Amino acid sequence: MKGIVLAGGSGTRLYPLTVATSKQLLPVYDKPVIFYSLSILMLSGIRDILIISTPHDLPQYEKLLGTGEALGLRLSYAEQASPDGIAQAFLIGEDFIGSDSVALILGDNIFYGNGLKSLLKKAVNNTNRATIFGYYVEDPERFGVIEFDEHDKVISIEEKPKSPKSNYAVTGLYFYDNRVVQYAKQITPSARGELEITDINQHYLAASALDVTFLGRGFAWMDVGTVETLIAANNFVKIIEDRQNIKIAALEEIAYKNKWITKDALIEITKKYNKTAYGKHLMKVAEGKFKY
Ligand code: TTP
Repeated sequence: MKGIVLAGGSGTRLYPLTVATSKQLLPVYDKPVIFYSLSILMLSGIRDILIISTPHDLPQYEKLLGTGEALGLRLSYAEQASPDGIAQAFLIGEDFIGSDSVALILGDNIFYGNGLKSLLKKAVNNTNRATIFGYYVEDPERFGVIEFDEHDKVISIEEKPKSPKSNYAVTGLYFYDNRVVQYAKQITPSARGELEITDINQHYLAASALDVTFLGRGFAWMDVGTVETLIAANNFVKIIEDRQNIKIAALEEIAYKNKWITKDALIEITKKYNKTAYGKHLMKVAEGKFKY
């Protein structure tokens, strides 16, 4: 399975923070926003990852993450000339995806919770189908909304409906089989001029191939689209990391635990970060301090 991080967009709701820089490069507490989304693909076991961003911002991502070798990844980069919709990722990524299945995550989304890894693995193994993740929200009219029956079978998906049929929003993480590329070619821009991911999900629904996994109590999902959500994410990560004495989305830790990099390589990386708590955490990982 391949992975795509969509890290473009215009970030206008964060102006002036994002006039000169990309939203996904802003800090959430002690690391850039994109670390959180990238960590989710890595926790899913995905190593071939395409990062899509604007022509202006893409070089910054290459500077930050390079070839991905230090993380045991094979990273590729592609430009999205203008933010024409989330589903455009599958057109930009067509050659990268090839004949594989693919997971897409929005670069400004943060997922956290015990047991997330096994839910991700379940989605990876749900072959020849699509898996989306649902989350309870108070303002469903801002999202893609999932209507479902008593067996959690999806009945409908609606994009930003005026009268939402449930409080469950579609989050920014999607697992698809290879037909997603064909579906992306079939859809047309919406009234707001975007290729909508909801239209892709509706194709899967029509083909009876759309599954939803609900992230219940104990899971946190947030995006960092506004200053309010950005500061909430900062506070959330600080509280979790301080209380548990761990780091969320420490990419080198995940790579090491996935056996993608050696202990020596991990120790080498900690030298780069030795003035920070992030680096000290990685050293503790190398010393085998964390059992869970
Ligand atoms: P949004 O938050 O919907 O849009 P945005 O980032 O352009 O911000 P704003 O509304 O403040 O102008 O995007 C969600 C995520 O998807 C975010 O990580 C940016 C990314 N994205 C793209 O990379 N390309 C696109 O065409 C779209 C629509 C979003």
